[in-house]
Amino acid sequence: MDFFRYEDGALKVEGVAVSELAERYGTPLYVYSAGTLEHHVEQLRTAFARHEPVICYSVKACSNVHILERMAGLGVGFDVVSGGELYRIVKAGLPTENVVYAGVGKTEVEIRFAIDNGILMFNVESEPELREIDRVARGMGKKARIAMRVNPNVDAHTHAYTTTGKHENKFGLTIEKARAVSGKIASMDGVSLAGLHAHIGSQITSPEPYATALERVVDLMLEIRSESLPLEYLNMGGGFGANYESTEQALQPTEFAKATGPAVERSGARLMMEPGRYVVANAAILVSRLLYDKEGEGKHFYIVDAGMNDLIRPSLYEAYQGIWPVKSETEPPFRGGREAPGGVLCDVVGPICESGDFLGRDRKLPAMGEGDLLAVYGAGAYGMAMASNYNSRPRPAEVLVDGSSHRLIRRRETWEDLVRLENEV
Ligand code: LLP
Repeated sequence: MDFFRYEDGALKVEGVAVSELAERYGTPLYVYSAGTLEHHVEQLRTAFARHEPVICYSVKACSNVHILERMAGLGVGFDVVSGGELYRIVKAGLPTENVVYAGVGKTEVEIRFAIDNGILMFNVESEPELREIDRVARGMGKKARIAMRVNPNVDAHTHAYTTTGKHENKFGLTIEKARAVSGKIASMDGVSLAGLHAHIGSQITSPEPYATALERVVDLMLEIRSESLPLEYLNMGGGFGANYESTEQALQPTEFAKATGPAVERSGARLMMEPGRYVVANAAILVSRLLYDKEGEGKHFYIVDAGMNDLIRPSLYEAYQGIWPVKSETEPPFRGGREAPGGVLCDVVGPICESGDFLGRDRKLPAMGEGDLLAVYGAGAYGMAMASNYNSRPRPAEVLVDGSSHRLIRRRETWEDLVRLENEV
């Protein structure tokens, strides 16, 4: 469920008209709904209530500090993958006690920064990394808590670029390796093993891969748990799929909870999870303006003012993102509404000089006029977070709507911003 609705022929986010936001803040514009974010966290909490999980929002999905503040306000911790992501949390004065830190290439500076800031634990992805954390922590006179990230060799049946739990992927330790490494940890003074972690991929829409992965991880957990390796935490990672074609989620979190319940029970450990997309994907739209209505040879193009630099998912993963005009009498068909009578079959493309620069292909949209606004749905996760300045395009502004109020949470970049760092040298 989300809070984007057509009322009197126009799209509203909670109590605010999208056209008013576009007028005030310009386009392209990311518009987030605070109510939707909160609703998604609540859904996860309810579904997994039995296990009272530690929820660590995955910062990479959308790292705006104002969104992170909202999350912290809900009592949610964070999953980070770089010193920069942790810096955002620290700089905003948010709690670090429930921060988990994954990633295959943590540097000494990043490890030091994380230890200094008292994160909950590192999710360790290789033996050499474990030795480095041990070395850095000892040098600081500290003991760093860690979980081993296990690669359970499970196919999550998602896009090849977002599958992370197979042996051919760079992530985590195989079960055999994790078993061998666990035997060495007790003798390391700089680290203590607090749990096991597995993150098998992203945009997962079936609970089976989770169940299989967790069974394997829990088998290992029970095998290696001992007094010196108490393993209090079982981290199931993130990856819950969002539904890009409906207001309902792809799969109810209760289904994930049901499928993984037995393994969690068996582990006797505290459950942790790292959702990103599930929380934020359907909590934002990208608002764009139609610049030119171009009749090509056998192809109709709606050329809009947002491109692949603003939202790269369609270009990079051929991901589907719903697109619909902001002025419309009905909900879009991908959200249960009607097809537009007399609609236009078109490619919605951006201004970037690449043929891969599209937001949607072969879409049947209502006829629109130049200057009209359109909304790209499901843009909250890996949208602004993956935006770039390619073609020297300033990145969009971000706005957070909460009920009938709205505020800028990131100003639009300017041409001046584009050259600032080059002119400082
Ligand atoms: N935990 C770890 C260790 C991760 O690597 C990720 C995502 C998550 C949690 C959160 O996954 P989520 O719940 O959001 O699926 N750019 C791609 C997605 C890349 C996901 C990377 N890791 C996309 O736009 O589809």
